Amino acid sequence: MNHVTVITGASSGIGAELARQLASAGHSVALLARREVALKRLAEEITQAGGHAEVFSVDVSDQDAVVDAMDKIETQMGPITTLVANAGIGDSTPAKKFNSDKVERIIRVNLLGVIYCIDYVLPGMLERDHGHIVGIGSLAGYRGLPGSAGYCASKAGLAALLESLRIELQTTGVAVTTICPGFVKTPLTERNHHPMPFILELDDATRRIVKAMDKKRTEYAFPWPLAFTVKLARFVPNWIYDRILRNQSAQKEPSKTN
Ligand SMILES: NC(=O)c1ccc[n+]([C@@H]2O[C@H](COP(=O)([O-])OP(=O)(O)OC[C@H]3O[C@@H](n4cnc5c(N)ncnc54)[C@H](OP(=O)(O)O)[C@@H]3O)[C@@H](O)[C@H]2O)c1
Repeated sequence: MNHVTVITGASSGIGAELARQLASAGHSVALLARREVALKRLAEEITQAGGHAEVFSVDVSDQDAVVDAMDKIETQMGPITTLVANAGIGDSTPAKKFNSDKVERIIRVNLLGVIYCIDYVLPGMLERDHGHIVGIGSLAGYRGLPGSAGYCASKAGLAALLESLRIELQTTGVAVTTICPGFVKTPLTERNHHPMPFILELDDATRRIVKAMDKKRTEYAFPWPLAFTVKLARFVPNWIYDRILRNQSAQKEPSKTN
């Protein structure tokens, strides 16, 4: 079966590496992001390696632009079989400098951007009774973190959105996978000044994501020591959780998160 795989945020980091690995596994990849030059460079690299990649420059927070890009993808490449909603931004949103514009910008890309993509691809996938929606969430979506209210809210929202869809779609041919990475070495985490335990190399993290996609895992949170800790933290009472995190928030500059 011909895989037509849309990858948002393909101009750098996880999205770019996913494009390389999925293309070498035989997927025709549609590369989406705002930076067209970076996308074209990647498409060239993939083509030279024998794969098939096309470039669609788009801001995922603009629904009309998303619809336009998806229309072009289906015309040029065929029906979309897999959506990897990966585009995301991280920025600090400290409580004492709370700024709704900043939070809105994060939500627009990390959550609404995914919603716009799903809105386009899901009806076709349901009609064909075949498809895979993959969302790149984060371990930061499991509990709130100091300095990261906007990012945590976007990823918690994404996790809830994907889980709700997954449950409803389980009797159809459309699978939903939520990927929750810990820290991965990308331009996003390069700007972080706080400790990033168990940080993974990009190719290693991406290989794990591709494997989880192949297995159509419902959720894949990794690396396991950090994922286990974060999941366990959900059962820690607030008074303990707050006390542990209070020291951290006093020490660190708000992060660009993961
Ligand atoms: N790195 C980590 O440790 C880590 C951990 C957990 C989760 N994640 C998640 O993984 C995803 C990828 O992150 P990354 O680490 O690979 O970061 P990255 O290297 O900064 O890549 C982010 C990608 O998103 C794209 N993007 C940003 N805003 C966009 C917009 N408005 N429209 C279209 N594309 C947009 C960027 O492309 P343009 O600038 O060209 O538009 C870029 O290709 C994100 O959702 C992030 O939250 C990362």
